[in-house]
Amino acid sequence: MADPLRAERVTLRDGRAVVVRPASVDDAEETFKNINLIGAEQVYIMIDRIDNVDEERRWLSSFDGIRSVLLLALAGREVVGSADCHGGTYPKDRHVGGIGIVVRDGWREVGLGRLLMERILEWMRAQGLEKAELAVFATNDRARRLYESLGFVEEGVRRGHVRIRGAYVDEVLMGLWLKRSARSGVP
Ligand SMILES: CC(C)(COP(=O)(O)OP(=O)(O)OC[C@H]1O[C@@H](n2cnc3c(N)ncnc32)[C@H](O)[C@@H]1OP(=O)(O)O)[C@@H](O)C(=O)NCCC(=O)NCCS
Repeated sequence: MADPLRAERVTLRDGRAVVVRPASVDDAEETFKNINLIGAEQVYIMIDRIDNVDEERRWLSSFDGIRSVLLLALAGREVVGSADCHGGTYPKDRHVGGIGIVVRDGWREVGLGRLLMERILEWMRAQGLEKAELAVFATNDRARRLYESLGFVEEGVRRGHVRIRGAYVDEVLMGLWLKRSARSGVP
């Protein structure tokens, strides 16, 4: 079985190439730039802005590759996409991993999001995680289609949970069982 944390050069649908690899603290300047570009769009993710690169460094240093991971897609030195997963920290939710993903404008709709999601799910399976979960704004059709195409199903809706430019938007909770047989009934 291939190592899900391998560094790999991948050609996207439009012919451009990226390297996908796990992040390290040294990537902070670049991930900081990337998240702030996407945050500034306001409509896709909870974060609007990270104020300083030290905060980003602290976040990057929290990933251990065992219970949590951050994968980057790099074009040269620039981070153009990332996906992270955090395994649950309580005994009751250790089987679940929460996913976040961002692809920078200009790099969307050429297969990078799918690639990062598939690699994160590969890592989750390798770590023995049984269920993936995520939250997506109801207005984010592109992301919802991607998740549905990977087998995620809607598990709940938090009504008006986010306010985007003054409008109340639902947040949709989605889940994907990675190990169907692991699911047993309510005790
Ligand atoms: C959502 C996001 C991760 C998708 O990644 P992407 O690289 O743009 O998408 P991909 O090219 O890999 O396409 C994956 C799937 O998304 C769906 N999709 C892509 N473009 C779409 C569009 N214009 N409309 C509807 N669905 C679309 C399709 O199901 C597509 O699968 P296919 O190409 O096999 O048909 C990316 O656009 C992104 O990061 N957007 C901004 C931040 C964000 O929304 N993050 C997620 C927060 S929950």
